[in-house]
Amino acid sequence: MTKPLSLLLCAVTIQAAAVDFAKQVAPILEKHCYECHSQKTGKKKAGYVFDDLETLQRDISPKGAIVPGAPGESHFLIVVSDPNHEAHMPPDENLSREQIDTLRQWIVEGASLGASSKSTMAANKGAAKPGLPPIMTWINFEGKKIKAGFVRLEGKQVVLRMPGTGKEVAYPMDKLDSASQQQAVDSAQ
Ligand code: HEC
Repeated sequence: MTKPLSLLLCAVTIQAAAVDFAKQVAPILEKHCYECHSQKTGKKKAGYVFDDLETLQRDISPKGAIVPGAPGESHFLIVVSDPNHEAHMPPDENLSREQIDTLRQWIVEGASLGASSKSTMAANKGAAKPGLPPIMTWINFEGKKIKAGFVRLEGKQVVLRMPGTGKEVAYPMDKLDSASQQQAVDSAQ
């Protein structure tokens, strides 16, 4: 019984930590793919350039080589993970199991290029971490302090993201003190 359980735990752990493109995916591509697919070396075999994020972004789409959320439909992943594929990549070696798992998990999670891609950078302007709003202090009408990030206004509620759990909670505006209500209005602009 111990084995299936440990496998299950392992799967859960992989799910819990989001794969970071710059820290985990780019280094694999740099080491094993740039030689033939990068601006750095000037080799753009089959048109793939993995160190130019704008070009790479174009390959990430429902019809591209990298299909966000669908590793099984991603040609990019199929050629690295199937050693018998006629276009197996890299041509003369195999990526390790962990490297392939990292690439797969990155695709499962949506194949985001993270803060390094221009579009996401614009979307997250002003945020401390990509996708995460900066933590602010909110005070409710009873004087209780709440530390949370601002997400958006929703009618008469302010949606806050709790640090730690990352949960979004809708908080009635009229339960916040006036300064915090103003903070919510300011944050929405
Ligand atoms: C030694 C050179 C070399 C390396 C290293 C290399 N590739 Fe390639 N790659 C090629 C060539 C040449 C082609 C085009 C010819 C072909 O399809 O075999 C190609 C084509 C591809 C294709 C299109 C395959 C198809 O079916 O047409 C993908 C996707 C790809 N590479 C991804 C990668 C990835 C990901 C890596 C790193 C893990 C990588 N390549 C490493 C030379 C390389």
